Amino acid sequence: MNELRNYFEQNEGRLINKFDHYFDVYERYFSKFRNKKITIVEIGVYQGGSLQMWRKYFGKEATIWGIDIDPRCKSLEDENTHILIGSQEDPLFLRSIIDKIGMIDILIDDGGHTQDQQIVSFEELYQQVNPDGGIYLCEDVHTSYMNVYGGGHKRNNTFIEYSKALVDKLNAYYTEQSSLQVDEFTKTTNSIHFYDSIVVFERKLMIPPSSKMMGKWSFENEIKKKTFFEKLKFHALLRINKALQTLKIKGIYVDEMIRLSCMR
Ligand SMILES: C[S@@+](CC[C@H](N)C(=O)[O-])C[C@H]1O[C@@H](n2cnc3c(N)ncnc32)[C@H](O)[C@@H]1O
Repeated sequence: MNELRNYFEQNEGRLINKFDHYFDVYERYFSKFRNKKITIVEIGVYQGGSLQMWRKYFGKEATIWGIDIDPRCKSLEDENTHILIGSQEDPLFLRSIIDKIGMIDILIDDGGHTQDQQIVSFEELYQQVNPDGGIYLCEDVHTSYMNVYGGGHKRNNTFIEYSKALVDKLNAYYTEQSSLQVDEFTKTTNSIHFYDSIVVFERKLMIPPSSKMMGKWSFENEIKKKTFFEKLKFHALLRINKALQTLKIKGIYVDEMIRLSCMR
């Protein structure tokens, strides 16, 4: 049984507003943080029910921060649950609170759900999420497909299109084009997960990738080392194909290059 869903379904505390299918996603990413001294931020307090749910789930040690534009939410503060009033779309406000909050282990964006709100919050707060395993979870991203929230299928600057572009950054270590560069996001993001209505980013300090071969060779012809001529051929093909790729021209003798790369 999913404990968060169970809590939600039995909730007699303050009102909570969540889609049912979110609970499986929460459980998958949040369970490792339970009963630890962590910092959680939720954008979007509403009636305060989700903050009570996080307290019950994560335990006493957690410091919980709620952010909301509605000043009434301030009255919903509790022990070790703090509420900051301001707009998630205002970079100056977000910059003014980051020192107070410190490093964030889990950030949940359940605020106003417009594209600008989600993107501005991500741009300002992602770097505040712990690079050693922290989670940034943006929910209700189905608004990326809804006109009223500034969305639309493949429309520029929706949170979904913004997140799709981050998939390229995740793989920037392999780029051969100058338009894609390794940056802080590449160096500190382990994965991006797309769910129905949710995008989850897992942070991790990434070691630049390196491939190794371990174990025994199976095919005779590949056990032998490359001859001098084969080495020369391999490096020549590698350079030619890199140059062709930069010019956006299809590579030549790619199969041969791959065959040679698989030899010792
Ligand atoms: C969907 S409700 C939050 C639900 C709550 N997290 C829960 O699970 O019960 C959205 C909240 O976002 C707040 N909100 C709307 N626009 C905002 C903005 N620009 N900045 C911060 N909060 C905003 C609203 O006041 C509202 O309380």
